[in-house]
Amino acid sequence: MIGQINIITNLILRQISIKPKIAVVLGSGLGDFANELTIDSIIPYNSLPDFPISTVQGHKGRFVFGYLNSIPLMVMQGRVHYYEGYTMQEVTLPIRVMKRLGIETLILTNSAGCVNKKFKVGDYMFITDHINFTGQNPCLGIYEDELGERFFDMTNVYDEELIKLAENTGKKLLAAGRNIHTQKGVYMQFSGPSYETPAEIRMAEMFGVSAVGMSTACEAIVAAQCKLKVLGISTLTNMAAGLSDSKLNHLEVEQVAGKNKEDYNVFIKEIIKQINQLSNK
Ligand code: HPA
Repeated sequence: MIGQINIITNLILRQISIKPKIAVVLGSGLGDFANELTIDSIIPYNSLPDFPISTVQGHKGRFVFGYLNSIPLMVMQGRVHYYEGYTMQEVTLPIRVMKRLGIETLILTNSAGCVNKKFKVGDYMFITDHINFTGQNPCLGIYEDELGERFFDMTNVYDEELIKLAENTGKKLLAAGRNIHTQKGVYMQFSGPSYETPAEIRMAEMFGVSAVGMSTACEAIVAAQCKLKVLGISTLTNMAAGLSDSKLNHLEVEQVAGKNKEDYNVFIKEIIKQINQLSNK
């Protein structure tokens, strides 16, 4: 695997002229944020050998490198999912490439179903911890020490300092009249592509879960192995199965995720500015 990571990293290095320390993965309906950048280079996933390509509507498949004000950034506009038939190792390959490129902080965004009845659709949830319920782990397989440790700690995957910083940013924006309501909670990754059943959601609730989705935990596992600082932000696009009268569908998830995009983009931008200040201290 390290051979493939090196080949892809070198191909990317040849095409970019910036050195970002922060990367952002954009989830369903959230890809618009990439338009905020002053572009350095755009690299479609299908231009990279054996790179997983997103087949999901609403997910573009490319890396966007560029500046946000003067902050160099790496953005994944679209991710691939386990339910597309890729292995977990393939799904998380981009995270390993990021590490190799010198990324230090990773912002993982997603759209998620809301399990916590105290939260509302449209709220943003900072992920404090996760349950990987896919039955798979992206670090299975032959051990290569360049990837990180074989057995690694998972107690502080989602960085507390980053959560505090993002919470404060959200509060400031809300006070300034932006539609940014934030929550904190545990995210549970299912394999999908079927949405959960009401019984599965009742189980998630009993497990202390606040949001469910089909991504992110596997990426956070790899990020923990290679020691990236992680901030996870779920956009709660719908009440999870059985918690409202309506049936779930992808179009609605995308529409709700994109509805507040102006404020959301300001939110992400502000968080990135704060993270950049933190890392320059
Ligand atoms: N379940 C799983 N994934 C999701 C959901 C959901 O309810 N909403 C958005 N992504």
